[in-house]
Amino acid sequence: MNAAERAGLPIAPSRLGFGCASLGSRVAAADGLNALAAAFDAGVNWFDVAPAYGAGEAETLLGRFLRGRRDRAFVVTKVGMAPPRRLGALRLAYALGRPLAARATAVRSGFRSLAATRNRPLPLTAEFVERSIGESLKRLAIDCVDVYALHDPDPADVGRDDVRAALARALKRGQARAVAVAGRFDACRAALAAGEPYSALQTSVADLDYGGAELAGAGLLLVSHSVFGVGGGALAQLRAKLAAAPNRHRRLVAAGYDADSRRAAAELLLDCALASNPDGVVLASMFRSEHRAADLARARRRVGPVALGLLDEALA
Ligand SMILES: NC(=O)c1ccc[n+]([C@@H]2O[C@H](COP(=O)([O-])OP(=O)(O)OC[C@H]3O[C@@H](n4cnc5c(N)ncnc54)[C@H](OP(=O)(O)O)[C@@H]3O)[C@@H](O)[C@H]2O)c1
Repeated sequence: MNAAERAGLPIAPSRLGFGCASLGSRVAAADGLNALAAAFDAGVNWFDVAPAYGAGEAETLLGRFLRGRRDRAFVVTKVGMAPPRRLGALRLAYALGRPLAARATAVRSGFRSLAATRNRPLPLTAEFVERSIGESLKRLAIDCVDVYALHDPDPADVGRDDVRAALARALKRGQARAVAVAGRFDACRAALAAGEPYSALQTSVADLDYGGAELAGAGLLLVSHSVFGVGGGALAQLRAKLAAAPNRHRRLVAAGYDADSRRAAAELLLDCALASNPDGVVLASMFRSEHRAADLARARRRVGPVALGLLDEALA
C-alpha cells in the first residue's frame, strides 16, 4: 500500500500538482480556468488551494473547474490564513498593479512585497478549524476535500489536543479524507510527533532537502512546494549563478539540460524537487503554457538523485 492509499485517497495522485495560489489574483479567472483544464487534460490531478489564495477567489474558481471532474481530481484546501486586507490606497495599488504585474517580472516581485498582496495568519482555534472547512466546501461546491491542511501553522498549534480533535471531527463527518500540515519543516515535524490525525505533510523543497529522510521515513504522503520560488527565489538565484559562470551551464548541457541557461535552471530545480520527493506530489504554479509544457515534460523523465549532485555543483 502506498502513502496515498494509507492516507485514504481513492485514486493515484499525479507526480505534479497544480498550485492555485495565484488563481483569481495575479492570474485572471478565464486564463486560470483554461490553464487548469489544460493541465488536467495532460494528466495533472492534484490541485492545491486555500481560502487565502487568489485574494480569496481561488477556491470558488477551482470549484467551477471541478464541475464534472470531481471524481478524477484531488483537492487540498487549508485553514489558518486569510487573504490580504485591501483597503483604500492599497486596494487601488492592487487594482492598478495587477495587470502590469502579470507582465513584468521586476514589477511583479516589487508588487508581491506590498502588504496588499500578503496573506494574513489567523489564530487557530478548534471552532475556526471546524467552521473553515464548511466554508471552503461551500466555495468549492463539493462535499469533501481529499486533504484538509493547517496552513503555515505555528508548530506549537499542530500538536494541540483541541486542534487535533477538530480535525478528527472533520474526518469523521466525511468533510475531508485526510488531514495534513502544510508549512515549515518544524511544523511538519510537530505533526510527525503528534501522530494522528495527520497522514500527509506539505513543505518546501528546501526543507525537504535537509529533512527529507526524516519526513519520508515516516511513510506519510509528502507534498513539496516552492520549487522555483516567487520573486528572487531559487530560480532567480540559480539563473544568476549560471549566467555568471557559463562553465557550470556547459556541464548541465553535457548532462542533457537545455542550451538556454534560464530554461536549464528551471529544469534542474524541478528534477531536484522530484528527486527529493520520489513517491509524493511536487507542486508547481503552471499558469503560463510554456511553464506548464516544460514542467510536464520534465516530470515525465525520471532523472533521480543525480540531479541533486548537479545542483550542488551548479551552486558551489
Ligand atoms: N504553506 C503552503 O502550503 C504553501 C507555500 C507555498 C506554496 N504553496 C503551494 O505551492 C504552489 C506553488 O507555489 P510556489 O511558491 O512553489 O511557486 P512555484 O511553482 O515555484 O512558481 C513560482 C513562479 O515560477 C514560475 N514557473 C513555473 N514553472 C516554471 C518554469 N518551468 N520555468 C520558469 N518559471 C516557472 C511560475 O509561473 P506561472 O505560474 O506564471 O506559470 C511562477 O511565477 C502554490 O500555488 C501553492 O499552491 C503552498
